[in-house]
This record gives sequence, structure tokens and C-alpha cells, in this order.
Amino acid sequence: MEHHRKALHVPHQFVIFAGTANPELAIAIAAEVGVVPGACTIERFPDGETSIQLQESVRQKEVFLVQPLSPPANEHLVELLAMADACRRAAAARITAVVPYLGYARSDKRHGRREPIMGRMVADVLEAVGIHHVLTVDLHTSQIEGFFKIPVDTLTAIPRLATYLSKDLPPGVVVVAPDAGALRMASEYAHRLDGRVAVLHKRRESGTGTQVTHLVGDVAGKTCLIVDDMISTGGTLASAIEALLKAGARPELTIAATHGLLVAGARQKIAQEAVKKILITDTVAGAPEDWPPLHIISIAPLIAGALKRLVEHRSLGDLY
Ligand code: R5P
Repeated sequence: MEHHRKALHVPHQFVIFAGTANPELAIAIAAEVGVVPGACTIERFPDGETSIQLQESVRQKEVFLVQPLSPPANEHLVELLAMADACRRAAAARITAVVPYLGYARSDKRHGRREPIMGRMVADVLEAVGIHHVLTVDLHTSQIEGFFKIPVDTLTAIPRLATYLSKDLPPGVVVVAPDAGALRMASEYAHRLDGRVAVLHKRRESGTGTQVTHLVGDVAGKTCLIVDDMISTGGTLASAIEALLKAGARPELTIAATHGLLVAGARQKIAQEAVKKILITDTVAGAPEDWPPLHIISIAPLIAGALKRLVEHRSLGDLY
């Protein structure tokens, strides 16, 4: 007897939800992918607690939650956790946290006794609420991936920023790492820009203040590009600018950093005559639009490229 079985039609479905940390970026990513973000209500109860409601079904869907852990990091973290919990309880098939800026990543070790390791704690809570996969950009240090047991894909903005910079910077530009931690990033930029590397040794004196104690490399009379993963208070850059000018660098500095947090008076510290261009991406929302040297390159096409590949179960290896 012949059996006529009707094949089950199981459409491959995915949905992108935006948290409140950077909805513009989520919309731009979704537009690149060819969809609009899913409907989701995010509010605060009168006592400040987070209230989330997904306004559409996620049953057996692949879900992407776009939420950088930018300031206020605690608010944005709890929101991301709540969104993931809502998705898990509503039977999402797979939850990917798209965290373009992973807050607390600088807390990756204990500096003294009785301190937490917040980077590890964040990894633990993301996993605890059922997130299956993390997609992020330019982690503070790559070892942070090791805090997670779930897959972490770390994209980098360096190729995009370097392509943009290559229009202005001469070959032989000195790419300056403002501290030893930025050396790998500086080497990558130098490779792409046909430049050389210099490194500063930084001593952190407080949360906002740093001091440069040594410079390794020749910057006298040279065009310099300072690179870092993030600009937070601007203290690191202010010290680097001062040290480079003191060492005779040409007073036409360029700065490139992936994450522009720009908190606690960063703009005032960096806005100096010698700083001609500052390049950041839009991983963090709210960069000032009225600051002529500041240029913002969108990371949306890169993240969207990754999302498309993830949905199609393809490698991210050909993204760059
Ligand atoms: C430190 O290791 C980071 O890479 C950055 O250099 C630093 O966190 C930037 O912070 P701020 O702008 O407050 O100096």
C-alpha cells in the first residue's frame, strides 16, 4: 500500500528584538537583514523594576536580542536578562544575545582581595537565563570568551575603521597603543594601514585618572593614530595625547576606538586643538552629533552580515 505523507512545512523563522540601550542600532541591523524588529513592550514599574512583554509569538523561533551593556550597565543588563527569560518561557528555539558592547568586561580579574570578577558574573547570568549564544564586538580582552561555556562570536570593527582611516593617513603612520592591553589592536591597525607601532605604559591612578610613565617607539615629527577598544572617561586618551605631544608627535592626532561610551566629561578631556579626528562606531548610543572631529561608523552592516550567516547556519569566516 502506498503511503502519501504530507511533508511538514516548518519555516525557518527568526525575530530580532531591541532592548532600550540602542534601538537605533537594532533597527539598522534589522533593516540590513530585511526585517523590522519584533514588537516588545519594555517599561518600568513605578518602583523602578523592569517590565517586559513580547508582543508576538517566538515559539520555536530563533531570537536575537540586541542590547549593548552600555551605561547604565546594570539597567541594560537586567533588561537583557528579562527579555531572554521571556523568550525562554515563551518556547523560543534559540536565543542569541547580540551585545555589541559587553559591559563589565574590564572586570576580568581581581585587583585586590574581596573584589568580584564582574565579567565572569555577567557571563554566568546570561547563561543562567537560557541564552544559547553571544555575538559581540571587540571584547576588551579575548580571554573573556573563556568565561562563557556557550558559543561566543566576537566581531571586530577594525577592518571597517581602518578602511575609513586609510583615506586620510599616510603610510608609515605611527599607530599608538595607549596601554599594553591595546597593543594587539594597534598591531592589527598598523598591518592594515602600512604603519608602525608605538606603545605607552599607563598607570591607572583612579577610575578616571591615568598617567603615562613610558613611551616605546619613535613618534617625534610623526603622524600618529591612537587606537583603543573604548573611550570611557577619556582619561587614558588625555594622558596619551599629552605624552605624544611632549615626545614631539605632529599636533594632528587621530583617534580610533570601537566603543564610544564618552562618560564623565570625556569630550572636554579629548577636545584639544591637536586632535583632528575621532572615529568610533555606534555600538553605544548617544554620541554627540555636534562635535565636528567625531565621526561615527555604523557597525550594523557587520552585525547584520553575522546574523544572516547564523540564521543560515553558515560560518562567519568570510565576513571580512
Ligand atoms: C583599558 O584597559 C581600556 O582599554 C581603555 O583604555 C580604558 O578603559 C578607557 O577608559 P577611560 O577612557 O576612562 O580612560
